[in-house]
Amino acid sequence: EQQKQQTAKVYEVTVTAPVNIAVIKYWGKRNKKLILPTNPSLSCTLSQDHLHTCTTVRASPTFDRDRLWLNCVEERIEASERLLNCITATRQLRAELESKDPSLAPLSKWGLHICSQNNFPTAAGLASSASGYAALVSALAKLFELPLSEEDQSKIARTGSGSACRSMFGGFVAWQAGELDDGGDSFSYQVAPATHWPDLHALICVVSDAKKGVSSTSGMQTTVQTSELFPTRCRDVVPQRMEAMKRAILDRDFETFATITMKDSNQFHACCLDTYPPIFYLNDASRAIIQLIHAFNNQKVDPATGKPVIRAAYTFDAGPNAVIYAPKGAMRELVQLVTYFFPKPIDRPSQAYYSDQFGLFSESEYARLGSDIYDESVAEFKDKFSVFPPGAVRRVIHTSIGDGPRLLTSHSSSLLNDAGMPK
Ligand code: DP6
Repeated sequence: EQQKQQTAKVYEVTVTAPVNIAVIKYWGKRNKKLILPTNPSLSCTLSQDHLHTCTTVRASPTFDRDRLWLNCVEERIEASERLLNCITATRQLRAELESKDPSLAPLSKWGLHICSQNNFPTAAGLASSASGYAALVSALAKLFELPLSEEDQSKIARTGSGSACRSMFGGFVAWQAGELDDGGDSFSYQVAPATHWPDLHALICVVSDAKKGVSSTSGMQTTVQTSELFPTRCRDVVPQRMEAMKRAILDRDFETFATITMKDSNQFHACCLDTYPPIFYLNDASRAIIQLIHAFNNQKVDPATGKPVIRAAYTFDAGPNAVIYAPKGAMRELVQLVTYFFPKPIDRPSQAYYSDQFGLFSESEYARLGSDIYDESVAEFKDKFSVFPPGAVRRVIHTSIGDGPRLLTSHSSSLLNDAGMPK
């Protein structure tokens, strides 16, 4: 009777998980298989209202094998060691629970159907592995009812993709490198929740890039093997920056937060240049954004100290896209600058290039966006920089700091139909 009930019940969970963008970069592994890093890192979790991965997992005795669909395309699970790491680890823990409590449905013996979708186009050039593995592990942990803390879950997500461990939490998240060979002390933890600093926003500038760059996985390996600057970074620079950054976040000290963020991005890219043969992730548009932000930061001087007022920070991952962190109050000016110097692709509707998520502009202002800079405060920039050809930046996304993985309870959020196939 119990068995009949178990087979009739649908064992399914749907979650969403966020993207994170590091302000102290993870780059380099000391153990490739377990994905153990050479240095700690720290990131901000971005709001899932704008960017997320949604994942549905279902276990059923009628599924003859595990299957996974990524953005509607079936993937071969067997071909991915990283997917297997996450599925095997959580299933193993479920099997242990079942052996202790025979009344539990034998989910560990059933096949799994996994369907995962990003709400942002993969072509947007945004890394989706972090939100993807965080969603997968969080969904499996819930489906299997595993008594795991978020820190424990982050260790499993880490074995999918290093940066994924930081998407297990919202707000400001540190990944401690750890020292143990088995990775038991290499997990992420929350430094502060998103609500701690609601004024901090992010502007993602998706930069056009025709060629496929070096993947982070292989790039960081070459850096570890060849860069002479890299050991100094890990030993002498990152540990101090981690401490200073945590303090800056707790104090909501934007100037320190921004300075460390920009310096750490620059040093990460310096290590890429110091890799042999060198790795180039930034392009002309990326470098122009760096100069624009420095000019923006030098524009206003604090009369009390005589020093420039830092109001924005850029950071770049393993690609040319810029993420600009800034107080919400600076975003109106920043959006005008970015859309003016990087006009939208000719064939793209304005809404698809920049949609004003926070209502910074009136309707008539929005209509003129990109063709002029109309705030006096930043009009002087027009003569200082040259305008890029349309489409050098393909998309601009304004978002804020957000929470960690969310469980979706409504039936309509499931990505699987009654038969357990993608909807
Ligand atoms: C530059 O997490 O993508 O974005 O662990 O091999 O999957 P793997 O690498 P991944 O590397 C991310 C590197 C980075 C910096 C960061 O997110 O900290």
